[in-house]
This record gives sequence, C-alpha cells and structure tokens, in this order.
Amino acid sequence: MRAGRILLLSALALLLGATSCKQDPPPAPQPGCESLTEIPYDPKPKEVVVPPNFPPMPIPPDNPLTEEGVVLGRYLFYDPILSSDSTMSCASCHMPEFSFTDGQAVSEGVTGEVGTRSSMSLLNVGYFLNGLFWDGRSPDLEDQALQPVENPIELHEQWPNVEAKLRRHALYPELFRKAFGIEHTCEITKELAAKAIAQFERTLVSSGQSKYDRRVNGEPGVFFTESELRGFDMFFDISPEMPDAECGHCHNVPFFTTNDYFNNGIEEVTDLNDFPDKGRGEVTGNIFDNGKFRAPTLRNITLTAPYMHDGRFQTLEEVLDHYNSGGHYADNRDPLIRPLGLTEEQKQDIINFLKTLEDIPFTENPEFQNPWH
Ligand code: HEC
Ligand code: HEC
Repeated sequence: MRAGRILLLSALALLLGATSCKQDPPPAPQPGCESLTEIPYDPKPKEVVVPPNFPPMPIPPDNPLTEEGVVLGRYLFYDPILSSDSTMSCASCHMPEFSFTDGQAVSEGVTGEVGTRSSMSLLNVGYFLNGLFWDGRSPDLEDQALQPVENPIELHEQWPNVEAKLRRHALYPELFRKAFGIEHTCEITKELAAKAIAQFERTLVSSGQSKYDRRVNGEPGVFFTESELRGFDMFFDISPEMPDAECGHCHNVPFFTTNDYFNNGIEEVTDLNDFPDKGRGEVTGNIFDNGKFRAPTLRNITLTAPYMHDGRFQTLEEVLDHYNSGGHYADNRDPLIRPLGLTEEQKQDIINFLKTLEDIPFTENPEFQNPWH
C-alpha cells in the first residue's frame, strides 16, 4: 500500500511536471481581447490554517494559494455561469450546510438527469491525494474541477462557452488578472478557472471546533460522555473489554478515512462481475477491485445523509446495522467486514461518538458561503 502511494505520488509529480512544461503560450491579442494591465497584480500568499491535530495542507508547487486566487475560486464555485442554462453551480450539489454535499441519495444534473452516485463532502478534500471521486478516477483538484462542467449529468456545458462567458463578464476579467496576472481577457482559460476553484477547495478545512477535536486537542473542560467514550473505544479498539468494531482501520485519524479502496460488503453479488457499479474496478481494470469504493471521511457525518456511494442508507442506525451484520460475502469483501456482535446500546454508543465529529463552525464559516449574496 505504501509502495502504491509512493508510485502514485511520483506519477502525479510527473504529470504535474509534464503539464507545466507543455503549456501553450498565451494567445496574441485579438479583437475583443482587452488589455488588463491597468489593473494592479499584487497577489498575497494565503496560508491555510489547520487544527493542531492535522498535518500541514499539501499544496502543489504550480498552484500556490493566494488571497486573490481563493476569492476567484469562491465566485466560480457558486456561479451558475458554469452550467448550460445558468441554473446550477458546483454549490448546487455541494452546499455548505450539508458539509458540501447535497442531501440527496444520488445527484441530479442541470437537465434533470439523475446520476448513480451520491455527492461527496468537500471537507478537508485538499488532503485527499489517493484519487478523487468514489472510484479515485481523478488525480487532483485541478483535474477534478474541469469535469463537472462538461458532464451531461452535472453542469452539461462546454468549456469554450464558459471561457467566452467569463471573458465578457463584468467582474471576472479583473478577478483573473488579480489572481493570475493575465494581461488580456482572452487569457482566461479553463485551466486557470480550475486552479482557482482548487485553491478555494483547499481552504475547506475542519475548524478544529468539533467536540472530538476540542477533546483530543486538550481543551479544558471538554469531555466525552460515557456513551461517546465507549463508542470511541470500540471504533478504535482501544479497550480489550469492549468489542472491536474495526471502524478505525479504514476511517482513521485525523480525517476519519485512509482514502483507500475497499469492498465494505454493501452489495449482494454472486460473482465479481455482477456489481451494478464497478467502482474502483472500472478505473484499474482489475476484477478484484470491482465493487470497491474509496472510504469516505466520517467528519460531519451527521450532515451528509443518505450514506454510501449510492445513498442507500438513510440513517446512521442503518449503517451500523449493516456493519454489525458483516454485510454480503464476495471474494474481495474486506476481512475486517465481519459480524461484530454489537448490542443495540453499543451501536448507539458508536453513533454518539460519530456525532462528536460534527463541525458546525466549519459549515457556517463566513469565508465559505456564497459570495454573490
Ligand atoms: C449535479 C451535482 C454535482 C455538481 C453540479 C458538481 N458535483 Fe462535485 N460531485 C458530485 C458527485 C455525485 C460526486 C461523486 C461522483 C463520482 O464519484 O463519480 C462529486 C464529487 C466531487 C469531488 C470529489 C471529492 C472527493 O473526495 O473525491 C469534488 C472535489 C467535487 N465534486 C467538486 C465539484 C466542483 C468543483 C464542482 C463545480 C465545478 C462540482 N463538484 C459540481 C456532484 C456534483
Ligand atoms: C474495510 C474498511 C472499512 C471498515 C472496517 C469500515 N468502513 Fe465504513 N466505509 C468503508 C467504505 C469503503 C465506505 C464506502 C462504501 C461505498 O459507498 O460503497 C464506507 C462508508 C461508510 C459510511 C458512509 C459515509 C458516507 O459519506 O456515505 C459510514 C457512516 C461508515 N462507513 C461508518 C463506519 C463505521 C461506523 C464502521 C465501524 C463499525 C466502519 N465504517 C467500518 C470502509 C470501511
């Protein structure tokens, strides 16, 4: 697994290197391509402040965060200009009040077409370097941000149209100039838009104010209740007197995910070819990866129902019933998924522990809200 991660990182580095050397020169000025050099370009580096129990945020060298870049990214994230009929933005499916999910089992795109997967929380997404989406098919946020615009079940628009709309917009030429130092409106590209959106997304970090974080960071007077403590014990298998619920192996600290791919036994299949959504297997071509999905973060899990890649479980009670049962057998079901023998009270203890991960100061952070209002 470690070797795999190193390989992936070097592949990423190669990819980043490759794209940065073969970047096209900015197009020559042409009619309708106005000069922006009157507008000052003086970007201020932005540091992402993270809780003391988090590592520093990894930032790609070719897209350092600036105040101006994050502002631009936030406008774009909330702007329906990115969709074909100007009704839908990234935020339509990633709303702050649901920890940047949409509260639906599966998401509905701009044409009303329904997808097969549930929207994902963007909390701490800047830390997720083992592939984005449920199946990990996108290597990084810069790549990911390009995809929803042209996806027919998401924004269903064409990037050249979006670029044209941004270039003739009253506000964006100035914002792109301030963020990236472009000299003409026609230098506004999808790549720069994606970079700005990625910068904004990297600021979406836990506040450190969840009960869990306050407790582990030793804030005076913050204690778990007995039930939360028992849940914590079973989640991480701390005490030999309590059953091991195995959760912490796949949902580990500090993000409550390893970001690795597993079959957690939710799908009943007779054969590894039968998964209705092959998940990771579609990306790697390895039949043993069929039906595996990336373990998602459990931070703010109280706000992101319904659960799993297809939103099949409505409540945390249903999720705990699933894990307690051991799920459905398949050749690649993870060995940690097995009947756990938890009592009703113990399942509730784990749910009570999960509730300590709720982070409302994150969802209500004024810097993350819609800048157009
Ligand atoms: C129609 C709803 C919809 C819209 C609009 C949408 N998304 Fe998503 N988003 C999803 C769904 C569904 C997934 C999971 C898809 C999958 O796994 O195949 C997802 C996944 C993601 C992820 C991956 C998170 C992770 O942990 O891997 C990121 C990042 C993201 N979206 C950002 C954006 C951005 C930026 C925009 C706007 C440019 C956007 N989304 C527009 C529904 C949407
Ligand atoms: C073998 C690894 C593994 C173990 C052990 C595990 N999970 Fe998961 N968990 C996953 C994967 C993978 C998914 C996503 C599966 C999917 O959507 O198809 C997931 C999804 C979830 C979700 C839904 C999250 C969302 O955003 O929809 C919750 C809640 C959850 N797990 C809680 C737990 C709890 C509580 C335990 C312990 C009782 C646990 N998990 C044990 C791998 C694991």
